[in-house]
Amino acid sequence: MNQNLQLLQNKVCVIVGASSLRGIGYATAELFARHGAKIVALDIAMNDDVAKGMAQEIETNTGITADVLGVQVDIQSPESCNAAIKAAVDRFGTIDCLVNSAAIVNGKGMLSIPSDEFDQMIGVNLKGAFNICQSAIRIFVEKQSGTIVNLASSAAQRGGGLVGGPHYAASKGGVISLTRTIAREFGPQGIRANVICPAMIETSMLDVLDETRLAGIIDAIPLKKAGRPLDAANACLFLASDMSAFVTGATIDVNGGTHIH
Ligand SMILES: NC(=O)c1ccc[n+]([C@@H]2O[C@H](COP(=O)([O-])OP(=O)(O)OC[C@H]3O[C@@H](n4cnc5c(N)ncnc54)[C@H](O)[C@@H]3O)[C@@H](O)[C@H]2O)c1
Repeated sequence: MNQNLQLLQNKVCVIVGASSLRGIGYATAELFARHGAKIVALDIAMNDDVAKGMAQEIETNTGITADVLGVQVDIQSPESCNAAIKAAVDRFGTIDCLVNSAAIVNGKGMLSIPSDEFDQMIGVNLKGAFNICQSAIRIFVEKQSGTIVNLASSAAQRGGGLVGGPHYAASKGGVISLTRTIAREFGPQGIRANVICPAMIETSMLDVLDETRLAGIIDAIPLKKAGRPLDAANACLFLASDMSAFVTGATIDVNGGTHIH
């Protein structure tokens, strides 16, 4: 990478779902730090040790001493989201970008999903996306600028996922619709919102697949490999930065050709 290319110089980027060093959220934090961003890492599993571990990993991998603020959040709660965004603004003065990579997944079939598990899936993946976007947009409206990147899934597009059941797919379909609506409502105020639909990215979400099943799925992917968290992070970078200044309401597939439509 050209070390001088700083696509997010001094931008305050809130990344939700960033506690696992194997996840898309962390990969995005590291890539954004490489590009000069200040990082606000939110997660239900965030604490001081996790945040320190993230900063250390970024330094080890990039040589950059990144400015990382870790804040624990449960995106199911609007109050928790508001408090997390306030903590970010208190520390850095503003926020410029939100990447929402937080989600839960479950592969149960239609007839096996209890009502409360359906509610929980929608509560985290869809209502959670709504809550954290609402908290961030309040700041973006004040400054008449901001970018939002939501993580949905190919499960929403192809009728269910490889590891996600109908409740997961439905929640992610809602995330796509929510993002498009935000793009239309807030475009006139300088706020862009786009959504990424990944599939088969090597994170802990794929741990439920045994080796034989994984090999079979990979064989059916046109690019003949699973994706890296960095592959999804690169799409986040494009959508978060001015590289995508005229892109809003878009859905970007990061799926190796698994679903071409
Ligand atoms: N890995 C894939 O192949 C794949 C495919 C399609 C979509 N996705 C989507 O990409 C995103 C990132 O997934 P990942 O693979 O990096 O998995 P991941 O499990 O590493 O990331 C999800 C994070 O969300 C956090 N989280 C869960 N509930 C939360 C809550 N209530 N409040 C705050 N944080 C919460 C978790 O602690 C976790 O760190 C998710 O939205 C996922 O649905 C991933």
